[in-house]
Order: sequence, then C-alpha cells, then structure tokens
Amino acid sequence: MEKQKTISGFSKLSKRGKIKWIVQNFFKDPEVVAKELKSYWLTNEDQQKIIDGFSENTISNFYLPYGVAPNFLINGKTYVIPMVTEESSVVAAVSKAAKFWMNRGGFKAEILGTKKVGQLHFSWNGEVKKLKAVFEELKAALKADAQSITANMDKRGGGIQEIELVDFTDIEANYYQLRCNFETCDSMGANFINSCLESFGQTLTRFMATHPNFAEAEKEVIIIMAILSNYTPECVVRASVTCPIQDLGKFGEMDAETFAFKFYKAIRIAEIDPYRATTNNKGIFNGIDAVVMATGNDFRAIEAGGHTYAAKDGQYRSLSHCSIKDGVFKFWLDVPLALGTVGGLTSLHPVAKRSLELLGNPSAQNLMEVIGVTGLAQNFAAVRSLVTTGIQKGHMKMHLINILNQLEASEKEIKEAVLYFKDKVVSFSAVREFIELFRKRKMVVEN
Ligand code: MEV
Repeated sequence: MEKQKTISGFSKLSKRGKIKWIVQNFFKDPEVVAKELKSYWLTNEDQQKIIDGFSENTISNFYLPYGVAPNFLINGKTYVIPMVTEESSVVAAVSKAAKFWMNRGGFKAEILGTKKVGQLHFSWNGEVKKLKAVFEELKAALKADAQSITANMDKRGGGIQEIELVDFTDIEANYYQLRCNFETCDSMGANFINSCLESFGQTLTRFMATHPNFAEAEKEVIIIMAILSNYTPECVVRASVTCPIQDLGKFGEMDAETFAFKFYKAIRIAEIDPYRATTNNKGIFNGIDAVVMATGNDFRAIEAGGHTYAAKDGQYRSLSHCSIKDGVFKFWLDVPLALGTVGGLTSLHPVAKRSLELLGNPSAQNLMEVIGVTGLAQNFAAVRSLVTTGIQKGHMKMHLINILNQLEASEKEIKEAVLYFKDKVVSFSAVREFIELFRKRKMVVEN
C-alpha cells in the first residue's frame, strides 16, 4: 500500500517550508515546481503579505484575468465595469450588450429593498403563548444589550430592525428561531449581524432564566446557533431595459419582431422549466460573479442567495423576465444582492479597491445597481446569441485561441489558424493537425 502523506504542524512552517514539503511529496519535478510556485509571488512583499493574510497555508497566488466592460449607461450615468472571470466570451459579450442598450436609452436600476437577515436558532420546551406575551419586553432587552455593538451602525442610519419569533415546533420538537432584519448601510454586515445574534443568544438565555412569567421547567433555553442568513429576499435590485420592438433593429437576417418573439419565448421557457432556468441563471451569474469578485465581495453568498430566490415560490425559475406589450419590448431581472463597499476585502484587496474607484466609489446600493445590470446585460447577450446565431460561433473563436495558446502558436500561426477555421469545426485535434502541417510546410519552404 502507498505510504500516506500526512504532516503535523504544517501551518507553522514558513511559506518556503510549506512549498518544500508539498513539492517533495506530491510532484515528480520538485525543484521546477517550487520555482514555478514562487514565480507567482508578488515582487512587492508588503502586498504579498496582505494577500497571504486573506487565507491560511498560502504558498502561491492563483491568477485570474481582470477585465473591464465599458459603455454601460445605468440610470443616465456611464460606467466601466471591472470583471474577474476565467470564462472566455463573457466580457466581450457583456460589452456588446452594453453598447447595444447604450443606443436605446441604457439600463434602469431600482433598489427594491436593503434588509439583511439573521437567525438565532434555539430549543425550548415551554408554553409559546407565555413567550409571545413577553415578546415586546424581550425585544427591548435584546436591543438594549446589543447597544455597544450597534452604536456605530445606528449613527450611520442602520442597525437592528424587526425581530420576529418563528415557531417550527409542528415540524421539529421544541425548535424556535428569532428571525431578525438588519440594515447594514454600506457594509455587507456579516460580522455586525453575527455579533448582534450572539449577543441575542446571551440575552435570551438570561431573560428566560430570570423572567417571572416562566415556570421552573421553562427557564432553560438551548441556543443551537446564531448566524446570518444568505437568503435576503428583501435586499433586492431590479435591473431593466425597454424599447419599442422596432428599435431593436435587425439581427443579421432576423427582423426585430422575430427576435423579440424568440427572446420572449426563451425567457418564458426559463420561467417554466428548471433545467433551462438553471442555465439561464448561470448566464446571469457569469456577469454578477465577475463584478462581485472584482469588488472583493463574497460570490458564494451572492450565488446561494440568488438561487434560493429563484426558487422562492417552490420551483426553481428564471431570475429574469421578459414582456412584449403594445409593441414594447421589456426585459428585467430581480436579484437579491447583499453587498458591501466598505469593510472586509473591499478595502484590503489592492485591486478590489481600484475596482471600486473605477466605479466612482459607489455606495452599497449603487453597487447593487451596477451588478444587477451586469447580470441582466450578460443574460441579454447569451440569450441574444442563442436565439440568433447560436453561441458556438463566438465561443469557438475563443476556444480556438485557447487551443493555439496551449500549442504555443506564434502570432503568425494564430492569424493563419483564425482565417482557416472561420468556416470549419474547431477541435483540439483539428487545430493540432493544422499547426503541425503549417510548421512542416514552413520548414520545407525555409529549407
Ligand atoms: C455559458 O457560460 C452561459 C450560457 O449557457 C447561458 C445561457 O444559456 O443562457 C450561454
């Protein structure tokens, strides 16, 4: 049996020590790999320390492209949108959609709400009507005890909002939760919310133990956990575009009417069929995640909340919608986005800071608008391709370039290959064959 490769005290090793252990144990060419991993370190040591600090056991950096999509007109203001994505065509497609709508009045974005959510989950065996009877008193105590945590947020116009008792005892014995709403202004608010909730846990325990309303057996509460919810159905932005159908123009041979009809149907299909809804929404998150990443926000939180929102009526559906009424085409997207423009990575990550600067140092609400619009534009671009040329045409060119890069093609070879594959099917073997032939011919000519 192969010897298990384990280590104790790995986290205490220096960065070089960690690399040494990794390459010696897992790579055939340890010296080459060690050198390569180190080659991705930043030359600016202070900046490297900041990046290392975001995580643990860091041994190198993992690069992703940082692109920009210009020509976004949102609520009458132009933006250049920073995007971090590894998927080819995403930035090109969204830029094309931005330009398309720039000439048709641009995008509108509207904040439908900014409430964040947190939950204190607890187990309690008592008469619920007794708890309900003193609930206002409990809420006052929860808020008063959390005052040292909320003071600053209160000053900024945020803080704790509604606190509600949710009774789950019909499905789980003795299980209740305090479901709470928070306004966290320009911060994403995870730390703020979790600190408030942990304070609520202590207050609830003390309140129940000391309040005269409860019998001896009702004095004990078991706090299960205190944590924010990434489902924020009341922290939502609506992004939209609209224009008379005729203003959509022609799409190659396709007239505006046919395009509008096919586009409407494509979105309708995503509203009724979860298989298509998932792919449609994936296209939306191609845009959303890229800006969330570029601005140092938490893309896992955004994805989780977005997908739950897509299933809010019990079936997973499209986040975007389309209507055609009285000759007018309208396309819109409602998506929950719990974002921050202060705190967290937003001010620590050197490039995230520049992204926010590029966007004009937006408030969290303004960033919700920009990101919601990027999701809508990305969705428009994908569905536009799907109902007109198909997406492979655009994708294949990018795919071809990626293959050529893998084959270490020269600039001349790339140019020739792009010309050659204009009307041919791109596959790795076909491209390799083309390059091999091209190189052979070149050798013959040179000799
Ligand atoms: C690919 O990353 C995204 C699309 O599949 C989205 C869609 O089908 O709407 C093109």
